[in-house]
Amino acid sequence: MLTFALSKGRLADKIFEMLKQLNLCDINISSDDRRLVITNGNYTFFLAKPSDVPTFVEAGVADLGVVGKDTILEEKRDIAEVLDLGFGKCKICVCTKNEDTEKYKNILNLRVATKYPNIAKNYFDSVHQNCTIIKLNGSVELAPIVGLSDVIVDIVESGRTLKENGLAPATTISDLSARLVVNNASLKTKYEEIYNVIKGFESLVK
Ligand code: PRP
Repeated sequence: MLTFALSKGRLADKIFEMLKQLNLCDINISSDDRRLVITNGNYTFFLAKPSDVPTFVEAGVADLGVVGKDTILEEKRDIAEVLDLGFGKCKICVCTKNEDTEKYKNILNLRVATKYPNIAKNYFDSVHQNCTIIKLNGSVELAPIVGLSDVIVDIVESGRTLKENGLAPATTISDLSARLVVNNASLKTKYEEIYNVIKGFESLVK
């Protein structure tokens, strides 16, 4: 028996499609499903908020999880990241107003609005720039427009949200995509079953 914690939201439809292709789940699950726990044969699936997937996997209530690299970097949980699933590709960037893509580097105490305070703080520490992190929960692009922050650290996928709001990516912090993660103890105690799942996902990625 293996248990998966899956991310609801943007990554969900592709995850469910892969599970079907691998014959791990033949029940129809959709991204707006209201069920939270679904059992199919030897597998149980939790549908969790993306930022909570690493928590379920670290605690061992889920053996495996599928989650974005952004969440892995932000949550810093003790889990094993075993495979890049190759979808949900995007970047996390420092973004600024169009006209200032370099100027932000000279601001002494940079005001940074973000949904990702750990990623943002780690990045500015790594380049030795002082900053004040302003945690927001969404529509982060608003912050520099209305004067709450100098820059944002946010996900850029198509780039449309930035463009439509007069902003631009200035520096890429990391490339992102969906990842398969595993509980460290399960990796030892259920090695064979988990290895087969990893091999299955790998065959879909290549
Ligand atoms: C994410 C991200 C950007 C947008 C980027 O927000 O925070 O705002 O998507 O996508 P794009 O480059 O394709 O325009 P999300 O849609 O998750 O909503 P939120 O801002 O309310 O969190």
